[in-house]
Amino acid sequence: MHNLSNIVTRPFLAALALATVSAVAVHAEDAKPADPALANSLNANDKTAEQDPALLKKNAAVKVEDGKYVDADGHPTYHVTNDGKKLDWYTYSGYRRYHAECHVCHGPDGMGSTYAPALKDSLKHLSYEEFIGILVGGKQDVSASEQKVMPAFGDNKNVMCYSDDLYTYLKARADGAIGRVRPSDHEDKPETARKAEKECMGG
Ligand code: HEC
Repeated sequence: MHNLSNIVTRPFLAALALATVSAVAVHAEDAKPADPALANSLNANDKTAEQDPALLKKNAAVKVEDGKYVDADGHPTYHVTNDGKKLDWYTYSGYRRYHAECHVCHGPDGMGSTYAPALKDSLKHLSYEEFIGILVGGKQDVSASEQKVMPAFGDNKNVMCYSDDLYTYLKARADGAIGRVRPSDHEDKPETARKAEKECMGG
């Protein structure tokens, strides 16, 4: 008797569980900002990250299109998963570009140097538009006794073709989504990134 009731109820419970799962999935689809699939999963033990809860919330991804994450303001943003170990493609690319083009002046991991400011702090305040503007046109502190110049990168494809990547990487550092760590894993390079890179570098 006992065995028979088990046979009858199990498939029913399985069906019920499935129905619940699909109802949750539909709900998450409707309420995009709360989509758990887009939430960052950070490394709580990484003290070098200096997490800023308000900024992490403000710049959280609400949408993803072919591996490119976008925040509520429509600006590109980072997506960090697997306890801070895995980056979205663009942020990972930004990490590499930063260390190829910017770190000689701005220090490793956006930490700054005696010559140039710590971008992990600057990006707490700079908007996306301001960041791109400085990258294109450069910046010069005319009041400083010692001339310190941020070069204009407007015609440098190795920088401008990756400006969004640099932005999301430095935002991730500013918000404390990632610390002073070499990223160990990343999402696959999206087809869109491949195409855009080819067009930008070649055209
Ligand atoms: C030759 C050295 C040098 C290189 C290379 C360089 N920068 Fe700069 N950058 C500076 C200096 C110096 C300043 C400060 C200028 C000022 O405040 O007038 C600066 C300022 C900035 C600012 C504004 C910071 C703020 O707080 O207002 C941003 C953003 C920036 N750089 C981004 C970058 C990025 C991204 C790269 C790599 C693509 C890069 N820089 C490469 C020297 C450099």
